[in-house]
Amino acid sequence: MIHFPETFPVPLIHVHETDSTLNYLQTLCKQSVPKEFTTVVADFQTSGRGQRGNSWESESGKNLLFSFVLFPTFLEARRQFLISQIISLAIKEELDTYTSEISIKWPNDIYWKEKKICGMLIENDLVSKYINQSIAGIGININQKLFLSTAPNPVSLLQITQQQHDIAQIASNIIVRIQEYYALLQKGETQSIAHRYKEALFRKKGMYLYRAGECEFKACIVDVEPDGRLVLEDEFGERKEYMFKEVEYILK
Ligand code: BTN
Repeated sequence: MIHFPETFPVPLIHVHETDSTLNYLQTLCKQSVPKEFTTVVADFQTSGRGQRGNSWESESGKNLLFSFVLFPTFLEARRQFLISQIISLAIKEELDTYTSEISIKWPNDIYWKEKKICGMLIENDLVSKYINQSIAGIGININQKLFLSTAPNPVSLLQITQQQHDIAQIASNIIVRIQEYYALLQKGETQSIAHRYKEALFRKKGMYLYRAGECEFKACIVDVEPDGRLVLEDEFGERKEYMFKEVEYILK
């Protein structure tokens, strides 16, 4: 069982096992209105959810599996990518304190070199033009030694640093960092958030291989639009914008 000290920066629900901390928190939010930043952490998930309907592999007690809820009712739905940006930045900056070469792989994976150390799913509930509720579910590989699933390129902090790390401390630090970024967002400092995000991007400079549908091409990142679209420029100078899942990186 992961040990959490009495003090945690936000309301904390720590369970040993659940199907998914995202499901747990979604259910809780249907039954009541928890305080903003209420966080659910699990040692183990029996059906951890990943992107594209995949499952999320994690050995019991070895990694940080958590979900938390925000009520960013001040934020327009068309600006929802800012939620992804602040969470990605907070995690990247926390991981930067343990190792170098951490980046954000658009839209919101966290990478170490060419490998994935963290993934997240963000489930926004919109009411007309605004975000009513946002639940983020995050998995960060911390102390797992070996990955068995077919996920192509997982890596843990232990594999990078050859050391065990304090999962509860990392969770607490990340929440504090997200709170700081959330305060920036509430103040409307969206340009600074977008700028920092672009600076933190995986393959920020240089030409790399991408795939869009059947088509493979070399391109470089030109920009990320406020709605989250990735702007790529190919070898022939042609620019195109891609929404999530419309383009994928071809990794080494
Ligand atoms: C991805 O595939 O990149 C997203 C992975 C998200 C995993 C986390 S673990 C905690 C939370 N609960 C889930 O069921 N999924 C997210």
